Amino acid sequence: MYKVGIITASDKGYAGTRKDLSGPAIEEVLSHFKGFQVQKYVMLPDEKDMLSNMMRQMADEDQLDLILTTGGTGFSKRDVTPEATLEVIQRRTPGVPEAMRSISFQITPRAMLSRAEAGIRGNTLIANMPGSPKSIKEILEYILPSIEHGLDILK
Ligand code: MTE
Repeated sequence: MYKVGIITASDKGYAGTRKDLSGPAIEEVLSHFKGFQVQKYVMLPDEKDMLSNMMRQMADEDQLDLILTTGGTGFSKRDVTPEATLEVIQRRTPGVPEAMRSISFQITPRAMLSRAEAGIRGNTLIANMPGSPKSIKEILEYILPSIEHGLDILK
């Protein structure tokens, strides 16, 4: 059993002017894999400190195994999810974003615009995903089996 936390980074979602479809898209993909249980799901604005504080809380206090973020990985000036992630991880796991971008390149060259990062803090793996629900499905179905293997080794 892997305990999962989801963080949607979206100014509009946080303000209530746009419905979050990305968090539910992660939940939907996870529901097709045995053993992943979403324990916490939060929506935050694209504010670096709020995002990094939530990642710390989910890793250190809630002791979640996996934190998946969605959104805020692109080139917009407000996109700061990768920077928030780099502040909290202790060991980078470059293979995870490499795999994400490699599968995404088969779908769109715009995959190069995602600045997603991933890494380990304590016993927790944190990985950034782009914001679009379509990209989440494309990426997560591909990486989850290997993520599962990594989490087993990390435990
Ligand atoms: N990856 C996949 N698999 N499918 C996509 O449609 N869109 C790209 C990229 N990665 C995409 C993708 C685009 S257009 C952008 S701008 C970046 O992800 C960043 O998205 P974000 O700003 O929502 O995080």
